[in-house]
Amino acid sequence: MKRSIRKQLLLWLLIPLLSLSAFSSVGAFYIGENLARSIYDRELVNSADSVVARVKNQDGKITVDLPVAALSILRHNNRDEFYFQILSPSGQLLAGHNFLPQPKFEQLNLNPQFRFFKLKERQLRAVAFTFPNATDNLIIQVAETRNTRKELTHQIAFTVLASQFILIICALIAVWFGVRRGLSPLARVEAAVNSRSPGDLSMLEVNEPSEIKSLVNALNNLLKQLSDDVEMQKRFIANAAHQLRTPIAGLGTYSALARKLAKDDESKEVLAELDAGIARMGKVVGRLLMLARSEPGASSTRQMSVVDLNSVVSEVTATKVPDAIQQKIELEFHSTSEPALIYADPSGIEELASNLIENSILYTPSGGTVMIEVAVRNGTTTLNVEDNGPGIPHEEKERIFERFYRLPGTEKSGTGLGLAIVKEVVSSHKAKIDVSSGPSGQGASFKVSFATFKRTL
Ligand SMILES: Nc1ncnc2c1ncn2[C@@H]1O[C@H](COP(=O)(O)OP(=O)(O)OP(=O)(O)O)[C@@H](O)[C@H]1O
Ligand SMILES: [Mg+2]
Repeated sequence: MKRSIRKQLLLWLLIPLLSLSAFSSVGAFYIGENLARSIYDRELVNSADSVVARVKNQDGKITVDLPVAALSILRHNNRDEFYFQILSPSGQLLAGHNFLPQPKFEQLNLNPQFRFFKLKERQLRAVAFTFPNATDNLIIQVAETRNTRKELTHQIAFTVLASQFILIICALIAVWFGVRRGLSPLARVEAAVNSRSPGDLSMLEVNEPSEIKSLVNALNNLLKQLSDDVEMQKRFIANAAHQLRTPIAGLGTYSALARKLAKDDESKEVLAELDAGIARMGKVVGRLLMLARSEPGASSTRQMSVVDLNSVVSEVTATKVPDAIQQKIELEFHSTSEPALIYADPSGIEELASNLIENSILYTPSGGTVMIEVAVRNGTTTLNVEDNGPGIPHEEKERIFERFYRLPGTEKSGTGLGLAIVKEVVSSHKAKIDVSSGPSGQGASFKVSFATFKRTL
């Protein structure tokens, strides 16, 4: 199974986002450090200037008037240490802390020179420059620990990182829901394909964004090709059946004539078999032709009109009475008092009713009953053909509608196409057929439901 589009998109977005965030974290740290350095370096120079302002030269002796309170002001905060040195050009310590490493004298001038160094495992930032004194140019060096600088750097980096983390989470959530929304047209195409009946090869009409439209167009091209192929096949079967009808009828006539002319019983028996075979063949061809005409694509042969189901079914029932009498089957017909109108092809409905009633009479043992009922209820007009014969096993309810399928052990002769024709008529009328057992749990009940025709005034 392929990974889902959503997961792939998330992954593809996550990789650049994380790399971008790694880059910008380094950048944020770098910017934070630079910012902290420029702020605190300026303050360090100010502190150095303050120390210089307190340097006194008394009879050639250099002193710095720096009480403890002033020193703590120069420190700026209580998390860092502050040190200073006043040096003579020769490197002699004139005042201040002696443990500070001395700057490189040759690089010094009036401009502040900054540097980092380590003192007893502590990192310090120092600035040094020369300043004129009464007799000579002296050197001032001040240094402070870097705790506050580091805190500021970390704060800046953390703020940038936190906002980036929130941004990534928001982007991922947006993609998660955005993809679902973006893919919803696909779900609509899927629903449009799923909702159609298997034989429906008409074009899909989905008004979707251009990306999906090309998929729908490709599907439509395939459907068009398929429906052309199916149409050709149907035409072929219909033509073949049509072409076979005349010669089969001719064969039937000749075999009947041969039976009449036959002198001995043996020949008559053989010719009777031949006659029966030709009759069966004629029935199969007739059914195939009917099937081809009933299929949803064969709209040219369908004549739709407003039909009263009562009258069509009662006429068909009347034609089945001789069979019922011969089979010793009681035939009941219940119609509605009002006309049961549907919009349908009368010959298709005739064929449907004829096949259902014929089956019930044929497969119900002698002495049984076949009940035919037309009913109108809640906008639905139904034809129910019910018998008390052997019924249809539950697991066969779908298969009996397949072409040429007959229940195993069916003794009566038949082609196995009757219910396939019924199914085609049902689907070409957008009707519904339900197969169940009779009310007593015995026998078979075939119920076809049509939409009741309503006249618009
Ligand atoms: N009312 C019924 N009671 C029991 N079995 C039935 C009934 N109707 C149909 N069947 C079973 O379903 C099978 C398919 O029926 P279908 O009408 O399609 O074909 P057929 O009757 O065998 O042949 P024909 O094409 O001549 O109608 C039948 O062979 C039969 O086994
Ligand atoms: Mg049948």
